[in-house]
Amino acid sequence: MEFPFDINTLFSERVSILDQTLVAGRKSAGRPDLQAHIATVIDELGRASAKAQQLTAPITSASKLQSQRHQLYLLKDAESNGGRGVVVGFLKVGYKKLFLLDLQGVHIETEPLCVLDFYIAENLQRHGYGQELFDFMLQHKNLEPVLMAYDRPSPKFLSFLAKHYCLTRSVPQVNNFVVFEGFFLNRSAAQ
Ligand code: ACO
Repeated sequence: MEFPFDINTLFSERVSILDQTLVAGRKSAGRPDLQAHIATVIDELGRASAKAQQLTAPITSASKLQSQRHQLYLLKDAESNGGRGVVVGFLKVGYKKLFLLDLQGVHIETEPLCVLDFYIAENLQRHGYGQELFDFMLQHKNLEPVLMAYDRPSPKFLSFLAKHYCLTRSVPQVNNFVVFEGFFLNRSAAQ
């Protein structure tokens, strides 16, 4: 994903972590011009993700990120676009209070880290970038994928979770979230 400004100026790291402040590292702090460009990138990514998932409206935008306590991991490729860099994709996570059914069908109240949105640019999918981004987030959060909940995962994302993390046995829920069997087995260890 290319933009009419230098991606490497905006995002110094290969993976940037963005939150409510829309600041990516020290460079963009106190720089409304750079923060406006960051907002443009997030809005564009949110629209592309919604289109890829055939959603009627984006679930990720700069204004949403500013008003919610979510974290967005953004992956860039610094060398592409004549050294100006391209945005490869993003992964958005956040804690949600959820009522989930355990393996016995008993309601439990929990507040796991959830994957809320995930997108890799169309031409770069199936090149391992999604796994790179996901693994970065897991390491940053020091978390196992089985302990997370997944908000309305797409077929591609379910295939991704099965392939890379052997997550196949989901536990039926009455909401849009998907969790896998180990979520309940490892629950006491996670708390
Ligand atoms: N069809 C089926 N499975 C796919 C596809 C596809 N077109 N693309 C990726 N996958 C899955 C497969 O398991 C694939 O393995 P395979 O090629 O051996 O079949 C695996 O992902 C590849 O892993 P990566 O290359 O690391 O994944 P990628 O960089 O493609 O990122 C992602 C995965 C984010 C799901 C990407 O395909 C994408 O952006 N898809 C469109 C948007 C989307 O569906 N996002 C998830 C929304 S749901 C949510 O966020 C809670």
